[in-house]
Amino acid sequence: MKREPAERSLRPTWLEIDPGAFRHNVQRLREAVGRQVVIYACLKRNAYGCGAGPIARAAIAGGADGLAVGNIDDAVSVRRAGVTAPVMLYPTCLPEVAAAVSDLDLTPTVSTPEEAESWAAAFGKRRSIFAKFDVGLMRGGAQPSELGALLAAIVDSPNLTLAGIYTHFHTYGGPEGAGYLEWQVARLREAAAAAKSSGAEIPFVMGSNSALVMQRPDLDLSGVDPGRLLFGVTPAGPLERQLDLRPALAAFRSRILIAKTITAVPEDQRLSPFPAQVGTRIGVLPVGWGDGLPRRFRDGARALVQGRPVPILNPVHLEHLRLDLTGVPEAGPGDEVTLIGRQGAQTITLEEVEATWGLDGLSLLAGLRDHLRRDYGHPES
Ligand SMILES: Cc1ncc(COP(=O)(O)O)c(C=O)c1O
Repeated sequence: MKREPAERSLRPTWLEIDPGAFRHNVQRLREAVGRQVVIYACLKRNAYGCGAGPIARAAIAGGADGLAVGNIDDAVSVRRAGVTAPVMLYPTCLPEVAAAVSDLDLTPTVSTPEEAESWAAAFGKRRSIFAKFDVGLMRGGAQPSELGALLAAIVDSPNLTLAGIYTHFHTYGGPEGAGYLEWQVARLREAAAAAKSSGAEIPFVMGSNSALVMQRPDLDLSGVDPGRLLFGVTPAGPLERQLDLRPALAAFRSRILIAKTITAVPEDQRLSPFPAQVGTRIGVLPVGWGDGLPRRFRDGARALVQGRPVPILNPVHLEHLRLDLTGVPEAGPGDEVTLIGRQGAQTITLEEVEATWGLDGLSLLAGLRDHLRRDYGHPES
C-alpha cells in the first residue's frame, strides 16, 4: 500500500504562536496612533517567523488596515489565508510577475522612472503603485533629488495610479543613532518638499517603522508600517510611547530523544570541545542550529525540563542540542523541554533569550526556520 507523506511535521520540536497576542499589539498600536493613521502591519520574512497567513488574519482582526511584505511569496500566503485587505509589496519582484501581482491584487513599489515604466507596460491596464524614497538606508527608493522624476513617470502613465509614497528609516540603538535619525528626518522633509513641488497629488505618505512609532509620534504622517513591535519586540532607544506589548512567539519546545550518563571523557579535557565529566547526565533533543538556534549559546543559557531549569550545553549541532540533566536525573525520553516560554511555574522570556542566545529579538524570530511546525492553538489572551 502506498503511504502518503505526513501533512504535518512528525518531529517532536515545535513553535507555539499566539495570534491573540499579535492582535492585542495591533489594538494597542491603534489606540496610540488614533483612527486617522493607516496601519500597514509589516509581515516581512514570513511574519518574522510567525507565519504570514495566520498573522495577517490576526492583524486585520486587531484593526490594521493592510499588510506589507518584503517577499511576494508571503503575499501569496496572506491571500491563501483568505485575507482580502490591501497588501503592499516592498521591493521584492520584477515586472515579469505583473499578472500574478494583478490577480492577487497586490500593490508593488517602484524606486526609479524606468521601473515604473516597466510595471506600466507589464500590467497593460491601470493598477496602483507605491513610490519609495530613500532617506538614508541607501537601499531601495529614489533619493529626494530624484523623487520628482519618479512621481512624474507614475502620474504621466495611463496604466499607473499613485497609491502613495513611503520610506524606511535606518534605525538602530546607541548614542550615535540619534544624530543619524535627525539627518534622515531632514531628508524626509526634503523629499516631502520635492513631492509637493512636483505638482503630483500625493494621497498617502508613510515613514515610521517600530523605532519611529515609539520614538517620534510626530512622524506618524498618513500611515505607519511597524514590524517588530507588533511581535512584542520593543525597539531600543529613548521611547516616547509606552505600549503594553505581548510576545507573539509564546513558546519554542522540543522533547528529549535520548538520555545517558557519560562514562568516559578524554583524560586531557582540551581534546574535546564538549564540557562533560564522567557522571554528567545528558539529554539529547532533536533541534539544532539548522532550525534557528545559535551555533553557540552564552553562559547561563538554560531550558526547562519537568518545570526546572537545566543548563544548555555547547556546541549546538545542526539538528541536535544537548542539555545537562544531572540536576534532574529522573528526566528521560519523551519529556517536554521548553527553550522559550512557560513550563510550570518557570518562564524563559524573550529578554532572557536575547541575552543568553546572543541574538536580538528580531534576529531570533526571523531566524526561526520555516520547516518548523507552528501551532496556533495557544489560548488567546
Ligand atoms: C520598508 C520597511 N518598512 C518597515 C519595516 C519594519 O521595521 P521594524 O521591524 O523595525 O518595525 C521594514 C523592516 O525591515 C522595512 O523594510
